[in-house]
Amino acid sequence: MTYYWLKAGHIIFMVFWMAGLFMLPRQMLYLHSATPGSPEAAEWDRRMGLLRKMILTPSLIVVWVLGLALAYTIGAFSQGWFHAKLLLVLALTGYHGWMVSQARRMIDGQRPLTERQLRLWGEFPAFILALVVVLVVVKPF
Ligand code: HEM
Repeated sequence: MTYYWLKAGHIIFMVFWMAGLFMLPRQMLYLHSATPGSPEAAEWDRRMGLLRKMILTPSLIVVWVLGLALAYTIGAFSQGWFHAKLLLVLALTGYHGWMVSQARRMIDGQRPLTERQLRLWGEFPAFILALVVVLVVVKPF
């Protein structure tokens, strides 16, 4: 039963993490059009702080812990699909960290990314999600 509870928890927190990764670029888009130092910018700073502390960081940690426990349980470390999945999830984790650092620069009043770049980067998690789910459900190699 442990395997099924691990997988259930893994999928639940994966959904929370993905929801957070979909929301962050959109909050950054709203902040982008706010005047630095304005009450509106301060409000988006508060909202992004809540998103990071309540959803993004906790779910990132739980997805990794339960994912590695699952991998240990089913002996996935020697399987090709898992190697490819791990690479994609490392890229997604890197994206998470990079976007949080860009958000911090925006809160300081900088605008390191254009609105167009924010929209394009906002699609990255969905692209990775599709690849990861195919890898872990179909296990093509
Ligand atoms: C963060 C590091 C992650 C690790 C180490 C990991 C590892 C695993 C492992 C070993 C399984 C069990 C596969 C099986 O039962 O056959 C699994 C299941 C799953 N993982 Fe992850 N995973 C991670 C992140 C993610 C992410 C980010 C997503 C989606 C974006 C994801 C989606 C899934 C899904 C949908 C399943 C269930 C597949 C099924 O029912 O057959 N995982 N994961």
